[in-house]
Amino acid sequence: MAFIVVATNNAHKVDEYRRLMAGEDVELQSLLDYPGCPAIEENGTTFAENAGIKAMEASRYCQMPAFADDSGLEVEALDGAPGIYSSRYAPTDPERIAKLLKELEGKENRRARFVCAIAIAWNGEVIETFEGEVRGVIAAAPSGSNGFGYDPVFIPDGYEQSFAELPPEVKNRISHRANAFAKAQAFVEEQLSLLGDLL
Ligand code: IMP
Repeated sequence: MAFIVVATNNAHKVDEYRRLMAGEDVELQSLLDYPGCPAIEENGTTFAENAGIKAMEASRYCQMPAFADDSGLEVEALDGAPGIYSSRYAPTDPERIAKLLKELEGKENRRARFVCAIAIAWNGEVIETFEGEVRGVIAAAPSGSNGFGYDPVFIPDGYEQSFAELPPEVKNRISHRANAFAKAQAFVEEQLSLLGDLL
C-alpha cells in the first residue's frame, strides 16, 4: 500500500479525490490529518504556480509524496475573473455566488470554465504539473445542494442541471479536477512502469 497526501483542508475536495482514487492501492491522507501544518500562503500568479507551492510545502512538512490542486472559475464576460481569486471573491460561498450573478446582470455572454491545476511533489520539489478544465455556462440563479463553491450556478456543456444538482458521479467523471487528475494518474502509472523496467 502506498501513501500520498493531498495538500488541502477542504473535506469536499478530499472526498472527490477519494472517489477518483477508488480501486487504487493507495491510502490518501490530507492536511486534515496534519493539524500542525502551518497555513500555506498561495501567493502564485497562476493556478499551476499555486498548486506547486502547496504540493511542495505539504511534501516537505509531511515527509511524504504529495499533490495539490489549485482551481477556480473563469468567466468570459468578466475577463477571466474570479480566476485564481475564486475562493477570496467574497467571504462565503453564497456571497461569492451572489456577487458573481450581480456582476453578470445584463451580460449576454454567460460562458465560463472551471480550471484545475494539479502538481505532484516529493522532497519539497515539484515533479510535474497538469491542467484540466470543464466548460459551461453560469445559470441565472443557484440550484442544487451537492458539491461546493460555485457548483449551484455552473451548468456544464451537454447538461441542463448545475453541478450541484447533477449526481456526484457525473461531476466526478467530467469535472476540471477529474480531467487534471486523469493526466496526473497516467503520468504516475507511466513512471512506475518505467521504474519497473529498470528493476
Ligand atoms: P482553491 O483551489 O482551494 O484555492 O480554491 C478554489 C475555489 O474555486 C474554491 O473555493 C471554489 O470557490 C472554486 N472552485 C474550485 N473548484 C470548484 C468546484 O469543483 N466546484 C465549485 N467551485 C469550485
